[in-house]
Amino acid sequence: MKKVIVYYSLEGNTEYIADKLAEALGAGKVRLVPEKAYADKGFAKYFWGGKSAVMAEKPALKPYELDTDIEEIIIGFPVWASNVAPPIRTFVSENRELLKGKRISAFACQGGAGAEKAFGKLRSLLEIDDFYGTAVFFDPKDRPSEENEMRLNSFIEKLR
Ligand SMILES: Cc1cc2nc3c(=O)[nH]c(=O)nc-3n(C[C@H](O)[C@H](O)[C@H](O)COP(=O)(O)O)c2cc1C
Repeated sequence: MKKVIVYYSLEGNTEYIADKLAEALGAGKVRLVPEKAYADKGFAKYFWGGKSAVMAEKPALKPYELDTDIEEIIIGFPVWASNVAPPIRTFVSENRELLKGKRISAFACQGGAGAEKAFGKLRSLLEIDDFYGTAVFFDPKDRPSEENEMRLNSFIEKLR
């Protein structure tokens, strides 16, 4: 199946997993980049990012290319306030037709908790009952661990 990984990453953890998945699965990658970058430092990072997630904003994205013949999509995001990072909302609303009937999996990177809630929100946005596969990682770039590696390997097996 032709796969693509569509992801947003503020600080590189989600990108770290996206890179590993792309390599292991021979999948393409699409990094979503907001027109107006979110703050990535200090209080502003949590304040503006958290507010944007709670308000369910759909920030405008820089142009990206998505092949129309893909069969499987893997969506990756950092958990923000127990929700999907907002650029994912924009992506879903911009690609409703293309996403219909596709096999969809998702992975989340988080510091502590909230990924399951965020998956629930993403399922509602996508109007699907379940994902083909999911995986949760704990700051995999900043805090490498055996647990993250094990989760990554079993996710790769599932998606192969
Ligand atoms: C605005 C904001 C809100 C966050 N909210 C949560 C949260 O609710 N739960 C959690 O476990 N981590 C939370 N985090 C931490 C990130 O999800 C985590 O560090 C993730 O690995 C970052 O991925 P990235 O490097 O791809 O941006 C938050 C981070 C930011 C910037």
